[in-house]
Amino acid sequence: MTRRLPFVVLAVFGCRPTPAVPAAPAHHSPPDGHAHDMPHRFERAEDWAARFDDPARDNWQKPDVVIASLGLRSDDKIADVGAGTGYFTTRLAQAVPAGKVYASDIEPDMVRYLGKRIQEDGLTNVAVVQGSPNDPNLPERLRLILVVNVVHHVHDRVAFFRALADDIAPTGEVVIVDFKPEAPDDAPGPPKRHRLTIDQIAGDADAAGLAVVSADTTSLPYQYILHLGRARAPGHSPT
Ligand SMILES: C[S@@+](CC[C@H](N)C(=O)[O-])C[C@H]1O[C@@H](n2cnc3c(N)ncnc32)[C@H](O)[C@@H]1O
Repeated sequence: MTRRLPFVVLAVFGCRPTPAVPAAPAHHSPPDGHAHDMPHRFERAEDWAARFDDPARDNWQKPDVVIASLGLRSDDKIADVGAGTGYFTTRLAQAVPAGKVYASDIEPDMVRYLGKRIQEDGLTNVAVVQGSPNDPNLPERLRLILVVNVVHHVHDRVAFFRALADDIAPTGEVVIVDFKPEAPDDAPGPPKRHRLTIDQIAGDADAAGLAVVSADTTSLPYQYILHLGRARAPGHSPT
């Protein structure tokens, strides 16, 4: 492999300025605009699609591994929160052909783009939803909510997780995929200082009534897969 790979990888998912990539969408935020600065806007969805849906992303994102980890049934009702351009939404739709996928995002241009993509792809089991920062606006309680490469953008993670906790069924799960702080500096994703540890996520989840059910740190090269469920008091039976 040539030295070009790190630039290609960054171009696919670098949530930071990538001067080596002229096609990068304009950021309406400070230089690295992540959760600790201000919201990172994802306007100009067509430009982001070139990155998010670049087939080269599959090499490290391993969507089949992520989806296999969800243990989906064909009739599950699920959500993709922070769905972006639909990289996971379209795959989830195929995994639950008799079920339903709600694809929610806070960026209106992503919602517009995704609605068009879903229609063009003829995915009749997907509904696209306009969310707000602390509420994905899901219309019913779900078996599972997938959140990929989003949580490091969220300002108030406790409020965000509280809304997700309310949106899952009593035995449902929230699955977080995000970037490992210990991944190399030039790995895809945000700069190291904006990557979240599992302990940080577990602490915020706990404050929101969610608990870590499992943490997989080895299946993906640069990311962890965290399964969260509703925390239960001892002796509590789900209702
Ligand atoms: C890096 S993209 C990831 C998109 C998609 N999940 C993927 O893996 O291709 C982050 C997305 O999260 C959205 N987002 C950021 N904060 C959010 C929030 N609080 N609630 C829902 N979506 C959010 C952004 O608008 C953007 O579309």
